[in-house]
Amino acid sequence: MIKLDLSHTVSSIPLDAYIQDAKYINNMLKEKSGLGNEFTGWLTLPKDYDKEEFARIKKAAKYIQDNFDVLVVAGIGGSYLGARCAIEALNGLFPTNKVQIIYMGNTLSSNYVAQVLDYLKDKKFAINCISKSGTTTETSVAFRLLKELLISKVGEEEANKAIFATTDKNRGALKQEADKKGYETFVIPDNIGGRYSVLTAVGLLPIAVAGGDIDAMMKGAYDAMIDLDNEDIATNPCYQFAAARYYLYKVENKSIEMYVTYEPNLTQLSEWLKQLFGESEGKDGVGLLPDSATFSTDLHSLGQFIQEGSHCLFETNIIVEEPNFDVMINSDKENLDGLNFLAGKKLSYINKKAFEGTLLAHSEDGKVPNIIITIPKMDAYNLGYLFYFFEKACGFSAYLLEINPFNQPGVEIYKKRMFKLLGKPGYDK
Ligand code: PA5
Repeated sequence: MIKLDLSHTVSSIPLDAYIQDAKYINNMLKEKSGLGNEFTGWLTLPKDYDKEEFARIKKAAKYIQDNFDVLVVAGIGGSYLGARCAIEALNGLFPTNKVQIIYMGNTLSSNYVAQVLDYLKDKKFAINCISKSGTTTETSVAFRLLKELLISKVGEEEANKAIFATTDKNRGALKQEADKKGYETFVIPDNIGGRYSVLTAVGLLPIAVAGGDIDAMMKGAYDAMIDLDNEDIATNPCYQFAAARYYLYKVENKSIEMYVTYEPNLTQLSEWLKQLFGESEGKDGVGLLPDSATFSTDLHSLGQFIQEGSHCLFETNIIVEEPNFDVMINSDKENLDGLNFLAGKKLSYINKKAFEGTLLAHSEDGKVPNIIITIPKMDAYNLGYLFYFFEKACGFSAYLLEINPFNQPGVEIYKKRMFKLLGKPGYDK
């Protein structure tokens, strides 16, 4: 369950001012009457998801676990960030799961791609190519290179059994290729856009391969769906969070929301959040710029700016109460480092004090508003809950700004420019 603390926002948030907005937008989401309503399938996904496909995801995950050393996830934006976020949040940065997960298709860097291909040369690897459109350049280029390597290693017939395509039900180049070659295929539903797709096969297959408990994750999302289906802002932390960030943006002129975690394993959660909110809200000349920091690491880089720099931001802290692993600080006879005052304390306790001290420094001394979201533990259940919480908060926030949360027209502009420069047919004007 999520706890939201708005008591460190410097000026108090007048939640009562948003009572009517909450009712109106809640209804708009429920009735699917808002902008972009054809992409609100994520709202009821935790109960409506395709159970037959879910079983197939688990079967495919087991097959990959039993037969391969590496799964290469080829996708970009919403087609990989959720999976990566979950896998790192649950397994940490030094995972012990049997199948290593590697990401490609999220960059056009020849340095990165050449090194991954080289690393894969002597590995038994499978590919999960993920693209709703089936035509995204970064993903398509990576997929072509990966296939070439795989076929050269195992031949086309075996390669086809090691390729899993997650894409649109009917359309796109990836779907056509999958049908022709007989790849096992998973569907990205029509009514769910990329950045809202982590709880579809887009996220679930890689997460399951990495050993994540996808049943627990869907249960967490389901419970969030039930808990947050509530138009009363006084008792709905999701709408309170959305209203608070809207107030800080509109009234307090904070133009940047910095997602802060105290766990390196959650750095990719911030990346997922940046994409979710940035791509949903940043349009029509409005929107908060999402930024992120991992503390206490970044207290030694961005900390100075946050404390004393221009007053352009607020922080949204995502705090996990109980760590999955802990370390004890022991007493040292010589105490040459002077650290015996910490003897007998766990590292998680020190990290907690770092958070509490930073919170005071930033909000009280620096007058930087801080929102705090706390979850009890980082496990699949709570992560599923958190995904749903933020998706709903994002949809609600964008509707407060009176924009369409579910499109991304601006993303197309760089593609057109790039295609023209690359001489792609049809882009010569
Ligand atoms: O959220 C989105 O819709 C985007 O970030 C897409 O996920 C991203 O552009 C990748 O698109 P596709 O899945 O079509 O390859």
